[in-house]
Amino acid sequence: MRYQTLGTSQINTSLIGLGTWAMGGWMWGGTDDKASIDAIKASLDNGVNLIDTAPAYGLGKAEELVGEAIQGRREDVVLATKCGLVWHTQQGEYFFDEEGKPVHRYLGGDSIRYELEQSLTRLKTDYIDLYITHWQDPTTDINHTMETLLALKEEGKIRAIGISNVNGDELKSYLKCGAVDAIQEKYNMLDRDIETGLMPMCAENNTSILSYSSLAQGLLSGKISAQRQFSGDDQRINDPRFSMQSRHSINQFLDTISPIAKDYSISTAQLVIAWTLEQAPSMFALCGARNSQQAIENAAAGAVTLSKGDVDTINAQLQKYLADQ
Ligand SMILES: NC(=O)c1ccc[n+]([C@@H]2O[C@H](COP(=O)([O-])OP(=O)(O)OC[C@H]3O[C@@H](n4cnc5c(N)ncnc54)[C@H](OP(=O)(O)O)[C@@H]3O)[C@@H](O)[C@H]2O)c1
Repeated sequence: MRYQTLGTSQINTSLIGLGTWAMGGWMWGGTDDKASIDAIKASLDNGVNLIDTAPAYGLGKAEELVGEAIQGRREDVVLATKCGLVWHTQQGEYFFDEEGKPVHRYLGGDSIRYELEQSLTRLKTDYIDLYITHWQDPTTDINHTMETLLALKEEGKIRAIGISNVNGDELKSYLKCGAVDAIQEKYNMLDRDIETGLMPMCAENNTSILSYSSLAQGLLSGKISAQRQFSGDDQRINDPRFSMQSRHSINQFLDTISPIAKDYSISTAQLVIAWTLEQAPSMFALCGARNSQQAIENAAAGAVTLSKGDVDTINAQLQKYLADQ
């Protein structure tokens, strides 16, 4: 596993982070608690120290599972959790309903402090390494939100500040108030919006990037065959990206780069993750895992460094695939 410092913090962090959204069950067709705990432990056993979670992942469920899994090894974990998607108040802006509860985007100071205490209890700890505003709240001034986050850092309750689902103007506003150690944004071979705006801003400001949905929710693993079925509330059921036609063309593209994976003796999923890590100097790839097998496979991608030539070949194949869509 390779490690580097997160943003302006002193926190030495694995380039692969374990994502725990699916462990909350919601929007992923349910979850298996034992398999989730095994996946968290397997990640830690395989060099991953970055664990990313959020209160919204199953209304506290994912955080509770993380809290249980890291018992006895808290000091070995770079624990990232979030604030700003709330169900204890209806202040801010309505976002969605989760398990029958209205969830709002709200980043008022008192609410952040309330959320943090709830997260600390569920995670069975007294500090968070990276505390991230999950989605931005148009009703609260960023100066006010950042003032609270900076105060929490002063108090030692959080060690680094992150922001997620931001645009360039929002990142600028945060940066005016203080250091932003990481942004967390959707980024993978198929979702590359951040390359033009956010990515260069991050490089200039010593802000790390945590890519989310690094495997495009599993689509880029090379394992989503025509036979794979999704059930319950799994968001992939109605996602056109997971249509039969899309699976077919993605898998055809992945076949074109699989010889490179063979050269490195790695899987397609590992090649896709390793490519992601090459796209910016301070990139960390968050990969969700449902079980220890996926967690171990994803963790091993953190040891792979691709040559420039191979990255260029992958990009050329990717361009061909995207041009045909
Ligand atoms: N800040 C935000 O708004 C935000 C948004 C989204 C995600 N995130 C974070 O980023 C993390 C990662 O993103 P994500 O979970 O959306 O997507 P992802 O990492 O692209 O995909 C995760 C899913 O892909 C499948 N998978 C993972 N590894 C695999 C492997 N080696 N082989 C085959 N299938 C594999 C698993 O689902 P199946 O086994 O069911 O196919 C898994 O749940 C999240 O867990 C969360 O922590 C943050």
